[in-house]
Amino acid sequence: MDRRRFVMTLAAASGTLAFPLSAHAQDFPNPAGDELYKPSVGQAGKDVIWVPTPDALVRRMLEVAKVGEQDLVFDLGAGDGKIAIAAAKLFNARAAGIEYNPEMASLARRNVDRAGMKGKVEIITGDIFDPKLQERFMQANVITMYLLPDLNLRLRPTLLKMRPGTRVVSHAFHMGEWEPDDTFTVDGREGYFWMVPANVAGRWTLKDDNGWEGSVDLTQRFQRVGGTMSIKGKTQPLLGPYVSGDVLGFTFVDADGSVRSVRANVRGEALDGGLHFARMVTTVKGQRR
Ligand SMILES: C[S@@+](CC[C@H](N)C(=O)[O-])C[C@H]1O[C@@H](n2cnc3c(N)ncnc32)[C@H](O)[C@@H]1O
Repeated sequence: MDRRRFVMTLAAASGTLAFPLSAHAQDFPNPAGDELYKPSVGQAGKDVIWVPTPDALVRRMLEVAKVGEQDLVFDLGAGDGKIAIAAAKLFNARAAGIEYNPEMASLARRNVDRAGMKGKVEIITGDIFDPKLQERFMQANVITMYLLPDLNLRLRPTLLKMRPGTRVVSHAFHMGEWEPDDTFTVDGREGYFWMVPANVAGRWTLKDDNGWEGSVDLTQRFQRVGGTMSIKGKTQPLLGPYVSGDVLGFTFVDADGSVRSVRANVRGEALDGGLHFARMVTTVKGQRR
């Protein structure tokens, strides 16, 4: 979607403001200073205008990302703080939002207070492209965003450096050639979900605890992988290779003709998992050469 269509789409969303977790100025007449700042839907922002994500879609984004109490959720371009507040209030996560506009960030902080989420939600005033803030949001295991396609693409290299298994969920906009792992629609609005894949490309030697050995060559494009297995000098294409977060899996035909599968966790240059044959499982370890 180009910027003009985006602005029109956002403008059409102006009926979606009422969100009970981030109430608006008229609900809180004075004590928190909201009379000093009343944002309007569609107002300019540094890289993108402000329009809040509708409540139902906020909830669905957090459900699709399976947010829970173990999670640290960061909303990039936090607006009035509603996604970060919902992550804490509805899903019990710790959450933070980064918002460039200082007045909007102050409003978001007041909304955090009013939602009773002060210890659980932090609103940071700053630029999502500031390397120092990028270091901070890279500590999260869930990222939410409602930005623009070109901003998603600018963020993509940073997101791909985050821990494998990090969940990323975006309202309306995709991530170019990094295909989503899931898409969903709420009231005609689209959401996209990705899981950061481990880097598995290269040649791996594998050994199990029964003396079995093999060598795997993997090529990778985001979460898509392909490759071959070599056993005793014979090479074959892998069957159904996949990477999902830090999990690598594939099936192959062993030297004796039996069909076996590997499912392993990738930790940097090593992998550790199981070699499955029918109901038997042996421990398999691998090293990238
Ligand atoms: C479309 S709104 C989304 C707000 C909120 N995430 C939501 O979904 O309800 C985008 C927000 O990003 C903020 N923003 C724009 N450029 C930014 C930047 N470079 N760094 C941080 N925030 C930014 C805008 O001020 C605006 O509040």
